[in-house]
Order: sequence, then C-alpha cells, then structure tokens
Amino acid sequence: MKYRFPLVLAVLIASFFGVVFVLQAFERPPVLSSQTGFRGTGMVQVTNPRSDAILWDRNQVPPPPEAADAEGDRASSIYENVPLLGHLSIEQFGRIMQVMTEWVSPEAGCNGCHVEGDFAAENNYRKQVARRMIEMVRHVNNGWANHVQQTGVTCYTCHRGRPVPEQVWSAAPEQGARGMAASPRMQNRGEPSVGLTSLPHDPFSNYLSGAENIRLQSPTALATGTPHSIQNAESVYGMMMHMSEALGVNCTFCHNTRSFSPWDESRGPRVPAWHGIRMVRDLNTNYIAPLRDILPANRLGPMGDALQVNCATCHQGVSRPLFGAPMLRDYPELASPPAQ
Ligand code: HEC
Ligand code: HEC
Ligand code: HEC
Ligand code: HEC
Repeated sequence: MKYRFPLVLAVLIASFFGVVFVLQAFERPPVLSSQTGFRGTGMVQVTNPRSDAILWDRNQVPPPPEAADAEGDRASSIYENVPLLGHLSIEQFGRIMQVMTEWVSPEAGCNGCHVEGDFAAENNYRKQVARRMIEMVRHVNNGWANHVQQTGVTCYTCHRGRPVPEQVWSAAPEQGARGMAASPRMQNRGEPSVGLTSLPHDPFSNYLSGAENIRLQSPTALATGTPHSIQNAESVYGMMMHMSEALGVNCTFCHNTRSFSPWDESRGPRVPAWHGIRMVRDLNTNYIAPLRDILPANRLGPMGDALQVNCATCHQGVSRPLFGAPMLRDYPELASPPAQ
C-alpha cells in the first residue's frame, strides 16, 4: 500500500511525457494513403490534407506579364553589353528584365544586379552571376528535357523571389568528435538535410558535386567481394532521405522496398530521378562551382565553395516543382540560346 502514491505519480508523469512525445513526433490526423503498387506489398504514398494545403499555397507561380512584341529594333542596336539577350526585340528585353527582377530581386529592384544609373556597367557581381544563370537555365531546358520535360524551369523555380534560393547546400566541415556518441563522420547530429536522422548530413559532396556511384546491393549472396562498406550504406541512405524529403514522398514512390536495386521492380519515377541526379551533378560542376571566382567571400560556404543545387532547390517538397505548372511556355527567351 505504501508504494501506491509514488506509483500513480510515476504513471501520470510517464503518460504526460508519452503524450508530449507523441504530439511532437507524429502528424495529427487525418492521414490519407493511396496505393501505388500491388496489394500487400506496402506500396503506398501517405499524405495529409492539412500539410498538402500549405504546400499548395507555397508553390503557386506568379502570373506572367503580358507577352511582348517580337518585332522592331533588336536590343543589341541600342544596348552595349548584351551577348545573351541582344537578339530580342527591345520590348522583349524589357519584359525579361522586369520579370527577372520579380523572380530574384524584388526588394533591391534593378539595382540588385545593376550599378545605379549605368545599366551597361559590368562591375556588379550579381550581373555576372545572372548571366551564368541565364545560360544554366537554357542548358537545363534544352539539354535535360529527359528530366524537366516540356515543363521546363525559370529563375522562379529555384529563387521564388529571393536573391539566393532558400534550399542550397555547401560542403560541410568534418564535425569534431563530441560526447559519448561521438562520431567523426558528420553523423552525430540529426540534420534537416537528411530528414533529421543521424545519417551523414553531407551526402551531397560525394553524390551531387562528385559522381560517386549510388550502389550498395551486393550481386552475391554473401558479402564477400562486395566493395561497399557500412559508411557507403549510410551515405546512400542519407542521400535517399534527402531525395524523399525534397520531393515530399516516401521510398516506395520510386522503389519496391522488397529489393531496392532492380529497375524492373521499381516504379516509373525512379527513371527521372536517375536523370535528375546526373543533371544536378552537371549544374554544380559546370555552372555553380566556377562562380566561386566571381562571388564575394562572404557569399561562399565554410569550405570556400559556392552554394550548390540539390533536389530541394527546385522541388521544395513537391514531386513536380510548383505542381507541374508550365514554366517555360511564357518565356521562350529562356528556352533557346540566341540564333548566331
Ligand atoms: C537578376 C539580375 C538582373 C536584374 C534584377 C536586372 N537586370 Fe538588367 N541585365 C542583367 C544582365 C545579366 C544583363 C546583360 C544581358 C546580356 O548579357 O545579354 C542586363 C542588361 C541590361 C540592360 C542593357 C545595358 C547595356 O547597355 O548593356 C538594360 C538596359 C537593363 N539590363 C535594364 C534593366 C532594368 C530596367 C531592370 C529592372 C526592371 C533590370 N535590368 C534588372 C541582369 C539583371
Ligand atoms: C537550378 C536552380 C537555379 C535556377 C533555375 C536559377 N538560379 Fe540563380 N542561383 C542558384 C543558386 C544555387 C545560387 C547560389 C550560388 C551562389 O551564389 O553561391 C544562385 C545565385 C544567384 C544570384 C546571386 C545572388 C547573390 O545575391 O549573390 C543571382 C543574381 C541569380 N542567381 C540570378 C538568377 C537568374 C536571373 C536566374 C534565371 C535566369 C536564376 N538565377 C536561375 C540557383 C538557381
Ligand atoms: C525519387 C525517387 C527515389 C526515392 C524517393 C528513393 N530512391 Fe533510392 N534510388 C533512386 C535511384 C534513381 C537510385 C539509383 C541511383 C543511381 O544509380 O545513381 C536509387 C538507389 C537506391 C539504393 C541503392 C540500390 C543499389 O543498386 O544498390 C538504395 C539502397 C536506395 N535507393 C534506398 C532508398 C531508400 C531507403 C529510400 C527512402 C528513404 C529511397 N531509396 C528513396 C531513386 C529513389
Ligand atoms: C532544375 C530544377 C530541378 C532539379 C534540381 C531537380 N528536378 Fe526533378 N523535376 C524538375 C521538373 C521541372 C520536373 C517536372 C517534369 C514534368 O513535368 O514531368 C521534375 C520531375 C521530377 C520527377 C518526376 C515526378 C513525377 O511525379 O513524375 C522526379 C522523380 C524527380 N524530378 C526527381 C528529382 C531528383 C531525385 C532530383 C535531385 C537529384 C531532382 N529531381 C532535381 C526539376 C528539377
């Protein structure tokens, strides 16, 4: 008898913390699930109408300005430094400047990229970066149709009205060992980049600026002869957590989790994902990394690299960025390089 009071108290305290833990860790219902594969294989996507409504609001595209007249003098006939856009009519040129301002520099306006009073001046680093970005966007729209299809991308796909996109990454310094759970392999803290798991939180340096193979499964029954280590496995899982978070899906959006490796058992979207990985490597290596030489030091990451692209830079929680809104249709200037 004499132990009863502390026992009741202990149960109360435990259930209080239990409830707090549950509220913190799980999403409030309703939770909907839709089947995406054979019955009994666990192939489902789980969604919640409440968070879907928030995502929907966040991923709307601003309406395009009126189309510009393609006739009349070329921009190159009156402007000085226009190697990329000089082939446009003056009206089209003005429209693109206006809409780029809305997409990447709504607060600073034209002077975000230009020197006040001298549009031809070249000594604002943002103008140089913007030029490289125009080339990058054209390259994605022309060269990576196997990923972006006819939907295409504009500056807005990544920037959403911010000078620097919200979702970027840079090489992370090696974490020092800390405490009893210390691990020097960048995995002793739950980081958002890998869905708050304690997987290595920079899988990107290897897989999205480097081109290390994302392969784990051994072709033989025993682990003899497999070149893959536990560290490999952790990095691949970190990368996969990022891809799932970035697209707002779970693993079975792409894989049949009975076996992750075989393509003939995977779902269709695994194919564009494969191309997406190669596209991001291309963008980071050929367009973003060289910006290091143009950007001021305070705009670089801790290891001195420019801020880079991953799946979240465009996708931002949705499996087709901006819910598949056609981006390119209203901006043919961003589809093709100038006719020579
Ligand atoms: C995101 C950066 C950015 C913003 C914002 C921007 N521009 Fe530009 N602007 C450029 C780039 C890049 C060029 C060079 C284009 C080329 O290489 O063909 C340019 C060139 C120009 C030129 C040609 C100057 C010359 O003689 O060479 C004019 C005029 C111009 N912009 C006007 C504007 C106006 C007006 C605004 C605001 C409504 C604006 N720009 C906002 C990036 C920007
Ligand atoms: C695939 C995603 C992506 C697209 C599309 C994109 N950008 Fe960027 N942009 C980035 C990233 C990532 C950075 C950060 C790189 C850095 O400066 O470290 C950046 C940086 C910039 C900066 C420098 C900002 C600053 O304050 O330092 C400018 C200017 C810019 N972008 C203009 C544009 C314009 C104009 C377009 C469309 C023609 C465009 N971007 C399209 C990803 C993108
Ligand atoms: C958007 C599609 C997509 C999602 C979501 C996804 N994966 Fe993958 N996964 C891929 C692709 C594509 C590859 C192959 C990458 C390559 O070859 O470059 C891959 C490869 C793998 C591999 C290596 C297979 C092998 O051949 O050894 C494993 C393991 C894996 N994924 C696990 C997961 C897990 C676990 C999740 C959920 C946390 C997940 N994936 C979510 C697309 C996806
Ligand atoms: C430059 C922007 C951009 C980046 C970066 C990007 N994607 Fe995409 N992705 C798109 C666009 C645009 C579409 C829509 C194409 C369409 O309309 O079918 C798309 C579609 C997809 C689809 C098909 C979705 C579906 O519902 O059918 C998958 C899967 C995908 N991306 C995976 C990835 C992965 C994984 C990464 C990172 C390795 C990535 N993407 C990086 C722009 C991007």
